[in-house]
Amino acid sequence: MNVKGKVILLMLAVSTAVVVFLEYINRNPEVDNNSSQKGWWFLSWFKDGEEKDLEVGGEQSNYPDSWGCMFTTRKRPEVVTVTGWQAPVVWEDTYNVAVLESYYARRRITVGLTVFATGRYIDHYLEEFIISANRYFMAGHNVIFYIMVDDVSKIPLIELGPRRSFKVFEIKSEKRWQDISMMRMNTIAEHILAHIQHEVDFLFCMDVDQVFQDNFGVETLGQLVAQLQAWWYKADPREFTYERRKQSAAYIPFGQGDFYYHAAIFGGTPSQVLNLTQACFRGILQDKKNNIEAKWHDESHLNKYFLLNKPTKILSPEYCWDYHIGLPSEIRNVKLSWQTKEYNLVRNNV
Ligand SMILES: *[C@@H]1O[C@H](CO)[C@@H](O)[C@H](O)[C@H]1NC(C)=O
Ligand SMILES: *[C@@H]1O[C@H](CO)[C@@H](O)[C@H](O)[C@H]1NC(C)=O
Ligand SMILES: *[C@@H]1O[C@H](CO)[C@@H](O)[C@H](O)[C@H]1NC(C)=O
Repeated sequence: MNVKGKVILLMLAVSTAVVVFLEYINRNPEVDNNSSQKGWWFLSWFKDGEEKDLEVGGEQSNYPDSWGCMFTTRKRPEVVTVTGWQAPVVWEDTYNVAVLESYYARRRITVGLTVFATGRYIDHYLEEFIISANRYFMAGHNVIFYIMVDDVSKIPLIELGPRRSFKVFEIKSEKRWQDISMMRMNTIAEHILAHIQHEVDFLFCMDVDQVFQDNFGVETLGQLVAQLQAWWYKADPREFTYERRKQSAAYIPFGQGDFYYHAAIFGGTPSQVLNLTQACFRGILQDKKNNIEAKWHDESHLNKYFLLNKPTKILSPEYCWDYHIGLPSEIRNVKLSWQTKEYNLVRNNV
């Protein structure tokens, strides 16, 4: 098919997706445009360290051994399953799929997923990412993919399953990959304000150079969700590659910091992700003004944000695994894995 045909098909698909979604809003009074009104049912498993009533029924045991009947730490004694501020770290076998599924199915949630692909990242990674996400990301629930590309004509044609729709946006391409990944924070914030906040109950933001391997489901949902970086989850915090220069807004002194978080996945409610992306972008701009660039760019600012604003849920490295590490026994079920990073092929500047 020629490029023009592709674009027309694509536009048709996009407008269908929008129409379908508008219908969904009209049908479903639960999905309104004010996230704070919906706050009452956004899952917050903890309030000041206490279990919140989730109306899920079933047997309720006490924290920290179990959160209602949704989470349990008992089956994974070999790994950290609760943080110092009482947030769950989600590992395979710590959650009850059946209870969570029925809880969220009744609430008819919609989950958004933003993904950015520019230049050669589109050809290399986008198709596999979307095909695998279509299958494994929030299977059975309403999902909207927000696909940000610098060349709409290169979008692969992918047939999505039921309850999945997508919206494509054209973004300006930056010369340096560092700038692409830093500008992403601003683009996400703008889109949340413009429409995403009215369209979804939860939002994830992910890198495109990864592939879903298994269900990445509702157990990952929360107000503010962070991902443990696969190479650093067992390391001593003094070794974390945080930004250590005081001049940077991302500065974290030695002796501080809880985990090393991976910018390849973060999420939460739209209002929390908005605050996160705005704060990170402010830090990035401040650094630019001071002529400094944080060691790991947006990821350094993200780590600073999570130091000051503790995530309410953390995902184990099973949710973003790098097979180059091997497969230690605590990695029981890989949900998503890194693609081979062919930086020399996909980046203009390495
Ligand atoms: C929410 O939606 C209603 C009805 O569609 C509209 O009147 C109102 O201005 C919207 N509020 C916001 C904050 O967008
Ligand atoms: C959203 O709802 C809350 C609670 O009802 C209200 O305080 C707030 O002003 C509303 N915000 C908007 C933008 O409508
Ligand atoms: C939003 O981010 C700012 C800056 O990091 C932080 O001080 C504030 O507590 C955050 N607000 C919410 C509601 O998380």
